Amino acid sequence: MTKQAAKTTFSEDFHRPRYHFLPAANWMNDPNGVIQWDGRYHLFFQYNPDGAYHANMHWGHAVSDDLVHWRELPVAIAPTPGSPDRGGVFSGCLVNDGGTPVAIYTGVNETYDVQVQCLAAGSPDLMTWEKYAGNPVIGDVPAELGQTRDFRDPFVWRGDDCWYMILASHIAGVGGAVLLYRSRDLRGWQYRHPLFVGDKARNGRNFECPNFFPLGDKWVLIVSAQLDHAPSTTLYFVGRFENERFITEHEGVYDAGYSYASLAHEDEAGRRLIYSWIREGRSGARQKQAGWTGVQAIPRQLWLDDRQRLCSRPVAELEALRGRHCHLRAGDVNHDALPLGGFALDIEVEFALAGGICGLELARAESGWEKLAVVYDSSTATLQVRRQYDDEDPENDAAPQGMSHQLDAGENLRLRILFDGSVLEVIANDRSRITSRFYSGSAENDTLRVINPASVVALDIWEMSSIW
Ligand code: FRU
Repeated sequence: MTKQAAKTTFSEDFHRPRYHFLPAANWMNDPNGVIQWDGRYHLFFQYNPDGAYHANMHWGHAVSDDLVHWRELPVAIAPTPGSPDRGGVFSGCLVNDGGTPVAIYTGVNETYDVQVQCLAAGSPDLMTWEKYAGNPVIGDVPAELGQTRDFRDPFVWRGDDCWYMILASHIAGVGGAVLLYRSRDLRGWQYRHPLFVGDKARNGRNFECPNFFPLGDKWVLIVSAQLDHAPSTTLYFVGRFENERFITEHEGVYDAGYSYASLAHEDEAGRRLIYSWIREGRSGARQKQAGWTGVQAIPRQLWLDDRQRLCSRPVAELEALRGRHCHLRAGDVNHDALPLGGFALDIEVEFALAGGICGLELARAESGWEKLAVVYDSSTATLQVRRQYDDEDPENDAAPQGMSHQLDAGENLRLRILFDGSVLEVIANDRSRITSRFYSGSAENDTLRVINPASVVALDIWEMSSIW
């Protein structure tokens, strides 16, 4: 069978990010099997080597010494004809089994309606993977769930005297479910019970990509939730893990935008790092035309604040990419365009707001209409991303994005904004996040302005260097 030659040069494509990781071409979605192994960070990811559309899932592979510069390696795991993963190697994780890297992932059939859990053992450099002859290690959906094709995305960790696994699914009519299993040897698994069942109306009809890990003296569950009336979103729950039960004490939205399928791990320095897939906000046809689709968010370090809110910050290593810089203080900022702009920026800004709105707006130099704005509205206590294209283009999503963001008493608004090609990552006071995409109609996208300049306490903008 001849395949259409993949588009591999993108030097003219200003929508393509400069300092976020994505493969050389084709489709990427979820991060998989993130781990630091012998000092080096490995990122595997859902990858279709055939083109920029979701099909024929493989595990792509990239490595980094600093979480910022990534080198793409050959595909790590491919479907095996006639085997339980013949239709695709779906998402999963990687553990260290007494010195052997072991990948645990979901194998699917051609129609995706049989989803089973599989194992593969890696070579010491994590480059070649041998599938376990006894696959699948979990083949049957627990009877209490009834018939479902949603049974996937294993997340495994080492407990005191056994391995634990959670899988994502749902209970029909009730909501998303996270199922707990245990094992002595990663091969034989015993089903325990649902670790967590969501409320369909609030938390969605199905869960994907669960994570469960200790953070400070609590445990955090992160799930990607498929909602009926809104785009899928990532949720978190904080609580205690006792006698194999999760008792939740607090919950929140991890990201109210295009971030999805997050996967966390602890690195050798003891940091809990999280990776996420940044989805596209343009049509499938545009994605195919572009020849690439999907971006990885800058890995973030996680912690809980004293009110159990899940906080995150892009890893400090990112700051090595900061180049030309401008620093402005209260009184230095007016309605004029700021001195730095362009397509690869890192911005930190603090506002002391007496009322009304504040934020930043990026507009196309020669167009009065095309705009991307990050806005905080104090009257509704919401963080928003507003997008406006010159021509109402049905191929680009311009839906308003927003989430509740309450400032604590006496707290200023602090925004961290990463802008890179068509990617926008916004973090407010470390704890509210909106990831967005914006496909400017022109490469002359360099007019950055402050909304409500009088409220600025300090503003720093850096131009970012490319990682390629
Ligand atoms: C989430 C997801 C996972 C699945 C994978 C398939 O984006 O749907 O549930 O394993 O993507 O590519």
